Amino acid sequence: MNQVKTTQDRFALTTPLYYVNDLPHIGSAYTTMAADTIARFQRLLSKSVLLVTGTDEHGQKIERSAQAKGMKPIEFCDEIVPNFISLWKLLNIQYDRFSRTTAPNHKAIVNSFFKRVWDNGDIYLGQQKGWYCVSCEEFKDERELLPGHRCPIHTTKEVEWRDEENYFFRLSKYQDKLLAYFDEKPDFIQPESRRNEVLNFVNQGLQDFSISRVNLDWGFPVPSNPTHTLYVWFDALLGYITALLEPDDEPTLEAALSKWYPFDLHLIGKDILRFHAVYWPAMLMSAGLPLPIKVFGHGFLTKDGRKMGKTLGNTVDPVTLVDHYGADAVRYYFLKEIEFGKDGDFNEVRFIDVLNADLANDLGNLLNRILGMVKKYCGGNIPVIVKEDVPTDHPLRLIGLSLGEQVKTAYEALAFSQACNLVLSLVQASNKFIDEQAPWSLYKQGKQQAVEQVLYTVLESVRLAVYLLSPVIPNISTAAYEQLGFGIDFNDQASVANAPFNVHSQWGLLSNEQKLGTPQPVFKRIELKRTDLLKDD
Ligand code: MSP
Repeated sequence: MNQVKTTQDRFALTTPLYYVNDLPHIGSAYTTMAADTIARFQRLLSKSVLLVTGTDEHGQKIERSAQAKGMKPIEFCDEIVPNFISLWKLLNIQYDRFSRTTAPNHKAIVNSFFKRVWDNGDIYLGQQKGWYCVSCEEFKDERELLPGHRCPIHTTKEVEWRDEENYFFRLSKYQDKLLAYFDEKPDFIQPESRRNEVLNFVNQGLQDFSISRVNLDWGFPVPSNPTHTLYVWFDALLGYITALLEPDDEPTLEAALSKWYPFDLHLIGKDILRFHAVYWPAMLMSAGLPLPIKVFGHGFLTKDGRKMGKTLGNTVDPVTLVDHYGADAVRYYFLKEIEFGKDGDFNEVRFIDVLNADLANDLGNLLNRILGMVKKYCGGNIPVIVKEDVPTDHPLRLIGLSLGEQVKTAYEALAFSQACNLVLSLVQASNKFIDEQAPWSLYKQGKQQAVEQVLYTVLESVRLAVYLLSPVIPNISTAAYEQLGFGIDFNDQASVANAPFNVHSQWGLLSNEQKLGTPQPVFKRIELKRTDLLKDD
């Protein structure tokens, strides 16, 4: 069970399992859009992909939210969960597993994992004294707190003093092992700034952390002492493993770990880095299991340059946003405009500007224009040109030939913004090339051969561009590919298998045997001026 399987032909990744204390917010949507883009890219590479998402439903935070509504916790969770599922549908997220920590098979996985750690001597009973943030579900060091004993992350929430008997996990025992692992696998935690953050934290010395609570009913009883409830994070992280069970599997660790384990990537926000890059690896080491290949901590989103929050009344509701602008627009803005790993801002004016400039003008108009010209000057048929006929110093050929590999490298590094910008550079060069070459005047001069070469090279460049952007904007890419004469639906995994990366990322694929479709705008310019539509308070 301990052997690490080859990761050549499969890719398993996770989003965090989201708390259900409230409706999904733009932060959860952000991680999930990024995860879906990665999953789609890996599928283009012809890999088997498993994208795990889900919900984290136990613990004090959820218990209190349910109480506030006068509901039983499970009823409350059952009411919130469909909102996540419907948002993922709206955002065109193709997840493979939705893991709920209240699912019946999860308890068996948690119990067997607990037993392994217990048998390894890593759990003991002790006294926990300290400041607890219910919103983080985490004890905080006194020195981390803001004035008035407020949490540094949930700045309006006061932490609560706890002094109780808890079971502890011997994290301190794993300090050296973790440091050795980080050293051996320098890519384990990304980006580099997060890795340094974790290294500093671990180097300062690790303290054992409590993995049980008393006076809390909403969770699993600790197997060795049911008067204690298992700490929500211990249970939640294991939700990743439970998600690996096939529907008919017995709920055993062996079954869960047999096919997809270890995970290639845990995608998370920076606020939950320690849990994933320190606590989780130590728990896995204790249970004798291989560690994930990579943990990537992205940045936080702000609105108009200010921290987002309900009390500030400036949250961005993802449902409103998608209803209004469509899934591709939302996905494109967040992935292209914000360098993944850094903090980023949402601003509606900027949002509209970016979409109009990149998708409506640069890409959409180019496709429309070029299809119109092919109709007018070439009878609607793709010119009979092969890559070899195009001079080696042709500007679009030059960019196109190396673009696939460059964009692949960017996607693999989760540099979505860079991937989009690389593609845009080909789109912009194509627009410039048409203007310079003026095929309409070449046509008037009777230079049909030259006209055809210009049109072919631009048409092929647009094709390559929409293919490479398909993980980010699958709807637009599908519509554009259809107009270019391909029957590929980027939202249908069986269909995507017919457009493998090694073939479709090559500049020069387009052939005269294809029939072009009817030109139609793939992205309509947004005429909306600054509105207050997005205020959801
Ligand atoms: N339940 C835990 C995760 C358990 S994983 C086994 C949890 N859930 S959460 O719902 O609070 O957070 C989910 C994700 O949303 C985190 O990755 C977090 O970083 C992200 N975001 C929350 N607010 C955010 C922003 N304002 N901006 C970007 N992402 C943010 O933590």
